Amino acid sequence: MRCYSKSGRSILGILGCSLTFCSLPLLAKEGMKVPATLKQSEKEMIAAGLDIPVEKLYNARGTGLNNAVVLFGKGCTGEMISGEGLLLTNHHCGYGTVQGLASTQSDYFANGFWAMNREQELPCPGLTVSYIRSMEDVTERVLGGIPDEMRDSQRDSILAVRIKNLENGFRYTTKKDAQVKAFANGNRYWVIISETYRDVRLVGFPPNGVGQFGGDTDNWSWPRHTGDFSVFRVYADSSNKPAAYSPANKPYRNSEFFTINANGYQEGDFTLVYGFPGVTQEYISSMQLEQVINFIDPIRIEARTKRLDVWTKYMSADRSVFLKYTSKRAGVANGWKKWQGELKGLKGNNVVTKKKQAEQEFQAWANTDTQAPYAKDLLFRMQSNSVAHDADVAVNEYIREAVLGIELISQAAELDKIRNIHYASLPTQVKTDSIAKLLRSAEGFYKNYDAATDRAVFVALMPLFMEKAGAYVPAYYRSELARFGNSYDKWAAYVFANTAAGSAEKLKAASSNPGSITDDPAWKLYSAIMQLRNEKIVPQLARYNDSLTRYNRLYMKAQILQRKYEDLYPDANSTLRVAYGKVKGLDPDGPAGYSFQTNLDEAVLKHNPEVAEFNMPAALIELQRQKDYGRWAVRGTVPIAFIADNHTSGGNSGSPVLNGKGELIGTNFDRVWEGTMSDYYFDEKWCRNITLDIRYTLFIIEKLGKAGWLLNEMRFAPVKN
Ligand code: ARG
Ligand code: GLU
Repeated sequence: MRCYSKSGRSILGILGCSLTFCSLPLLAKEGMKVPATLKQSEKEMIAAGLDIPVEKLYNARGTGLNNAVVLFGKGCTGEMISGEGLLLTNHHCGYGTVQGLASTQSDYFANGFWAMNREQELPCPGLTVSYIRSMEDVTERVLGGIPDEMRDSQRDSILAVRIKNLENGFRYTTKKDAQVKAFANGNRYWVIISETYRDVRLVGFPPNGVGQFGGDTDNWSWPRHTGDFSVFRVYADSSNKPAAYSPANKPYRNSEFFTINANGYQEGDFTLVYGFPGVTQEYISSMQLEQVINFIDPIRIEARTKRLDVWTKYMSADRSVFLKYTSKRAGVANGWKKWQGELKGLKGNNVVTKKKQAEQEFQAWANTDTQAPYAKDLLFRMQSNSVAHDADVAVNEYIREAVLGIELISQAAELDKIRNIHYASLPTQVKTDSIAKLLRSAEGFYKNYDAATDRAVFVALMPLFMEKAGAYVPAYYRSELARFGNSYDKWAAYVFANTAAGSAEKLKAASSNPGSITDDPAWKLYSAIMQLRNEKIVPQLARYNDSLTRYNRLYMKAQILQRKYEDLYPDANSTLRVAYGKVKGLDPDGPAGYSFQTNLDEAVLKHNPEVAEFNMPAALIELQRQKDYGRWAVRGTVPIAFIADNHTSGGNSGSPVLNGKGELIGTNFDRVWEGTMSDYYFDEKWCRNITLDIRYTLFIIEKLGKAGWLLNEMRFAPVKN
């Protein structure tokens, strides 16, 4: 646990922390531990309620439960719930894939999808599932002999060679994939040995009225009633190995999978989350955090509010626009809402002040320390470095979120690529093939594009950029606006009517007439902003990021020395981690609605057929009316979700949530709004992860989906009466 998370109370608390608490064994709830290091925390975990040896969670023999936790798609987690490839993850993790399978005729968002046997399971092109087989600390082999003072360019090239050699060596000996990853801001290195399966099929997907119930209104908040799950199956070739999709493939026979415990839990019970948290920045300086608070979060929120207002309006007017934008919208709205909670938490908890206090202590330590001479002026250098780049950071956000938030302008990058291919000195055949490939992948974009919607986004976002970006607005933008009499409507109308970037057909036509591209108004907007960015922002930000990387590495190294951490947890980096905590309501002395668990009766009270997000399927309401809950009833209803104080992050979506015996009690899917600051600062008073209760998942599969056949392959802990 970082000192300053304890130190909010008084100056004495802070001093006490630096002198004593930090060298005591910590009952850490905060933190995401590397599975191969769990032995160091075993005592504390057992004291907290873990009832199995940590070797069951991970061991070098390859029989740990890590083999039952997967990286699902690009950034979610999933868990194996049978020995025949059956996989559970979140609804929102399967959402993009299902969008590719759905149409107005088979509208799985409205009606759900349930395979009634294995033949009906649907192939999901492009979806992959990766298993982490083992990991090994290779810090010495990567960093050995490299002095702190070495120039970064030299250091980077040495590291690149060492890492490549290591990866090749591990690939050769393990016959699996190997990736060397940096931890603790480049102070530790681990090699991760994995296997990726490429034939993954959709098995079950509840309708949005269950899987997204509460939608963006309830997203990131508690109490919560979302049945946020979907079910897939991993397939393998005849030797049980990864293979591309083939009808001849067989369900993957995996020896490790989770036993399901449907007996429930109490407040205070031990919980453990096993998954792939993406990014946390717990150890950055107060200066970097101030940039998040002053520029990054507010600008993103401001621009996305405008974009989302437009999208919502057009999506509710037209079902086909809804189907095109629903997945994109969910993604954009997700960050938008999270950052609002994050800002509120960071400000409300005076996190900058706490960091500044901790920095004072760090400075006092550095002034007298002898092991880390580089630490003495580190914070001063970091300070002037950040201030010098505030403006670059802000404008870069406006460019990304406002200008490139207009899809047409982002898409004009394709015109630019066509031009580059055309004028490159390459054999004709290579050019033809590259352009054909580009046009093919552009089709995916246009399938989910509506120009009228995007034109309204232009009218909403362009003024924001023009007003806020000041001297960074390209001259071309100003002259165009003036040419249209300061009317954004007229400007947008002109751009959208005259560009080739707005449809697959026009893009194709432009590809056979590349000379026309420099007259294209969307291309002109794109290339003007890119030119400005490349000249005025990119070099500055690149220099800034390089120095941040170096400073943060040294700062982390010094903090490890200063705080004498035995088991300091490295920031999340999309590698497999373990967090543990306990079931806990949000505000123990607060309102009753904030208790630790929700149920179906409460959900039905929120049902509203007029509001899409709260429109629950009639069949579910009927099940509730009849109290037709099968084995899943608990005191006359079905539990839906619960909260606990595990430290999780984006990427932990779909993670198995386990009890002390390592049995599955639910699937992680969110955090509470009050605690989304935990990516920078974890406070057990406010930070909670939200878990979908496994009993609701099983109830929906069996009673609503009528897919009870799936339960036959699952393994259950004995029923407790
Ligand atoms: N907040 C959750 C996560 O970060 C769920 C997001 C999906 N739901 C939504 N309404 N956008 O992934
Ligand atoms: N819903 C998030 C997801 O991907 C997990 C929740 C969180 O960020 O804590 O990834």
